Amino acid sequence: MTLLQVMAEGDRDDVLLRTTDLAVIAAELAPFDITLEQWDTVELSDDAGQDEVLEAYKADVEKVSKEGDYRLVDVVRMKPSDDPEWPAKAKGAREKFLNEHTHDEDEVRFFVEGKGCFYLHLAGKVYAVVCERGDLMSVPAGTTHWFDMGSQPEFCAIRFFQEEDGWVAGFTGDGISSRMPTLDELV
Ligand SMILES: [Fe+2]
Repeated sequence: MTLLQVMAEGDRDDVLLRTTDLAVIAAELAPFDITLEQWDTVELSDDAGQDEVLEAYKADVEKVSKEGDYRLVDVVRMKPSDDPEWPAKAKGAREKFLNEHTHDEDEVRFFVEGKGCFYLHLAGKVYAVVCERGDLMSVPAGTTHWFDMGSQPEFCAIRFFQEEDGWVAGFTGDGISSRMPTLDELV
């Protein structure tokens, strides 16, 4: 279930708010121009490829792309497997965006399935937003944040970009992410 947990930036145990009420979550994020919407979901096969996913959500994808001037869309999928290389692959993918960073363009993700957590570091607080199937999260350019896909990453998401290198992160050097609960700890 979609979850917001707000914590004081200096103390992870100082939980200011924890809610699964979507209206409350949206209202908490709105002052920062961060949006969380829910789309109607479509039944897809477990291993649906990029084309199948994009076709299933074609109308929603076109609408978001047009409104945000996103020229590029792709699908990313992480799924535990018996592949001996999976643990290293999962660890590498998780660590890539686990430290606080910003982007020069918006970070927009639609969760087709599974879950992941955005941590937004704003106004002396950390807003941890656990997104699940059906959630569209939009984080404006320049927002300090990080993302945790958990110790066993399992999700499929549509990503929207304005430029080819829109995903490139500028790391802040702040170690705050290591002092906050992980996705595994939050849910
Ligand atoms: Fe990011």
